Amino acid sequence: MTIKQTVKKYTSLLREVTHIPAKEVEILIMHILDKNIIWLHMNYDKEFDKVKDLEKLVKKRATNYPMEYITGKATFYGENFLVKEGVLIPRPETEILVDNAIEILNKENQKLKVLEIGTGSGIISVMLAKLIENIEIIAVDINDKALDLAKQNALKHGVEDKITFVKSDLYENINDSDIFMTISNPPYIADDYKLPTNVKYEPSNALFGGKVGDELLKRIIDDTYSKKIKYLLCEMGYDQKKPLEEYFKDFSVKSHSFYKDYEDFDRGFTLEFKF
Ligand SMILES: C[S@@+](CC[C@H](N)C(=O)[O-])C[C@H]1O[C@@H](n2cnc3c(N)ncnc32)[C@H](O)[C@@H]1O
Repeated sequence: MTIKQTVKKYTSLLREVTHIPAKEVEILIMHILDKNIIWLHMNYDKEFDKVKDLEKLVKKRATNYPMEYITGKATFYGENFLVKEGVLIPRPETEILVDNAIEILNKENQKLKVLEIGTGSGIISVMLAKLIENIEIIAVDINDKALDLAKQNALKHGVEDKITFVKSDLYENINDSDIFMTISNPPYIADDYKLPTNVKYEPSNALFGGKVGDELLKRIIDDTYSKKIKYLLCEMGYDQKKPLEEYFKDFSVKSHSFYKDYEDFDRGFTLEFKF
């Protein structure tokens, strides 16, 4: 069977889990053969002799198992990152959070220290380290697998000297007194929320933020304020704008703004405290 015939044959098995089934079969073939898209398109009529390997992966993908966990790769902010089971897969909307941080950091002239809470695969810290020259980052997580992967991603992008990885429950193991900004995409989904099947394969401690969902976000706000850190930038759930805006009133706030994601849902905020 040629590659072209193979793609055609296995496309039908993925129709239920993706709107791009043929493309996904191609991605799996490229993953098995370790080839890129240009090679694939130039070799469509070549015999494909790894059908058994492909069938195994297609069946796995047909259970809604994420493609990124199969290939071990994901793109974020136009860059390639390593991903693995046990660590959250990067989401495109988190790019907006990175953009918001860059806008503030670019206005400052001195070296800045930024703390990321819940670094996961390290995408936020790595992108900030790549894009901001004069920066020192502390990236924390409670998940060892995440910290390992984030370190690998920092190495892959050559920014390992700019990021210190620390195992910490929020600020527990952080004693620095000169942090300029905290950034976080924390777990913010309510514990009883029924996740779609594809998301079920991702770690629950990266997703669930408490009974209501915003408990961890509120702890981050409390601790950031008590540490006298000027800026806090967070991603949040689409329905958390009102309760968080109300919560901000308990603090001395210089300015705050909310932003929306690419689908026009409320998705996060920038908070500047006044001390
Ligand atoms: C939604 S994921 C975000 C991962 C990554 N920053 C991203 O945007 O893709 C949340 C991360 O927070 C971590 N986390 C959960 N509770 C935490 C806590 N109490 N302290 C530090 N990290 C925590 C999880 O392990 C997970 O990696």
